Amino acid sequence: MWAWLALLECLACIMLELAEAAHAVQIATLHAYAFLHGWSADDFLKHIENAMDDVLVWAENGEVFGFVVMRTQDDQAEVLTIVVSATRQNKGLGAKILNEGERYVARRGADIVFLDVAADTPAAVKLYQKTGYQRCGTRRGYYRREKGRVDAFLFSKHI
Ligand SMILES: CC(C)(COP(=O)(O)OP(=O)(O)OC[C@H]1O[C@@H](n2cnc3c(N)ncnc32)[C@H](O)[C@@H]1OP(=O)(O)O)[C@@H](O)C(=O)NCCC(=O)NCCS
Repeated sequence: MWAWLALLECLACIMLELAEAAHAVQIATLHAYAFLHGWSADDFLKHIENAMDDVLVWAENGEVFGFVVMRTQDDQAEVLTIVVSATRQNKGLGAKILNEGERYVARRGADIVFLDVAADTPAAVKLYQKTGYQRCGTRRGYYRREKGRVDAFLFSKHI
């Protein structure tokens, strides 16, 4: 009995939801931890308010532990960025957030999703491979690093 109640309580406080303006600062903070060139809270606010974009957050009791930003134009969508907090990685959360993002863009009419990923981020490459993305190209030296440049792998998935 108590186990069921605890489970229900847990389900109620863990949510994947559309981001609101109030989430922008937390999203930007997570992004800054993950990337050398983080986007600002204002950048994320623009995505949240952009009619072409879906910004989904995984929040537990108001604290954001992961998010994805996706953009749809006509029948094509793009993953602009996705991050899971370092404290929650490797538990399948990235795949859950990405799958839900795909459901949102599919509802807008997208039937294919594109993305690019830096070749030196193996966890992200693995995430896309395990969720059904196929590699469809390479941009040589696309990303700048403190020392030198790395390739971007292009991936796509029919949804
Ligand atoms: C990419 C990211 C969103 C994945 O989130 P996540 O919640 O850990 O994702 P999942 O747990 O669903 O899957 C990650 C997979 O990568 C694997 N992985 C983790 N580190 C790895 C590494 N160094 N080499 C190879 N695979 C790795 C995990 O084992 C897991 O695969 P599995 O389910 O088969 O075991 C997260 O690592 C992150 O936020 N990274 C920093 C930001 C980033 O690079 N974003 C992507 C930009 S394109």
